[in-house]
Amino acid sequence: MHVGILTGGGDCPGLNAVIRAVTLALVGHGARVTGIERGFHGLISRHSRPLAPADVNGILAQGGTILGTHNACDPFHSDGTDRSGDAMAYAHHLGLDALVVIGGDGTMQIAHAFQRLGLPVVGVPKTIDNDLPGTDRTFGFDSAVAVVAEALDRVATTARSHGRVMIVETMGRYAGWIALEGGMAGGADAILLPELPFTVDAVAAFARAREADHGWTLICIAEGARADGEGLTVRERIAGSPDPLRLGGVGAWLQQRLEPMLKSEVRSTLLGHTQRGGTPTAFDRVLATRFGWHAAELVRAGSFGRMVALQGDAIGSIAIESIAGRSRPVPPDHPLLQAARGTGVMLGR
Ligand code: F6P
Repeated sequence: MHVGILTGGGDCPGLNAVIRAVTLALVGHGARVTGIERGFHGLISRHSRPLAPADVNGILAQGGTILGTHNACDPFHSDGTDRSGDAMAYAHHLGLDALVVIGGDGTMQIAHAFQRLGLPVVGVPKTIDNDLPGTDRTFGFDSAVAVVAEALDRVATTARSHGRVMIVETMGRYAGWIALEGGMAGGADAILLPELPFTVDAVAAFARAREADHGWTLICIAEGARADGEGLTVRERIAGSPDPLRLGGVGAWLQQRLEPMLKSEVRSTLLGHTQRGGTPTAFDRVLATRFGWHAAELVRAGSFGRMVALQGDAIGSIAIESIAGRSRPVPPDHPLLQAARGTGVMLGR
């Protein structure tokens, strides 16, 4: 059996741990494994390399992806052209019996389209945003949350020393999981999510009350959070990307509006790609390894068109078709929101 593997979309801590697990598990059963370079782009540009156990030795804790990735390559719409035929031709040229695709929502949609063309695929859910449906966690999320928590710990000392309002802006696009868990872990006083619009007046009133009681305030805001009546804060548009909008700057936007309304100084920090870089947490290394091993088992069993998923404590799988094009925002009655609210955290309005 000959199995290809690729990483698509943005990088994320734990990608190499999955590549390692898939390679070790499949080679251990006599299969050949080939790494496709730079995501689906490698299928079009014909860039790949064999993966043996020696190639994945020591990469468990390495950030990024040894195969490279591409966040704007959809072979079905490549610069306005359908190059899926070229990609399929290369898969046949390599003699691939299956392709393991590690990625997020956009990558799973493309994987599903290849499955329909006759290339058997197995998906592994990756995104720091944790917003893929059907799995309780994606790997990379825990590592991003750890970065946010540490950032909040660090800015808290400045908040206390100067009596300031400190704002930390997280990634997460249209889902607030990173801001919610990171904010809770870092002891944020207010957590602002895309799912719960806020008003500047309410945040100012909350910070003023804290000026009187505590003297400082920590705010954790997701890049996709919006004040009532405002649109998303769009930083740039990436042509050719499955989701062309890049968000960023809502923390600075909030800072400018809060400052004239408060006695304290306000500062904001945008964490950006620091949340996606570096070594995965121990949790993500274990989850990525479990996902990788399970993906290899699905390949061996011939269970194609499926994505591995964490369901409670167990790893299962779901049909890629059932999740492609869908997202998983924080539900309004989520237990984390209840715990945050119950411990005095301001959430949106
Ligand atoms: O989906 C993962 C993510 O990191 C989002 O949280 C963020 O909005 C986006 O990707 C950034 O993408 P890029 O690396 O292309 O700027």
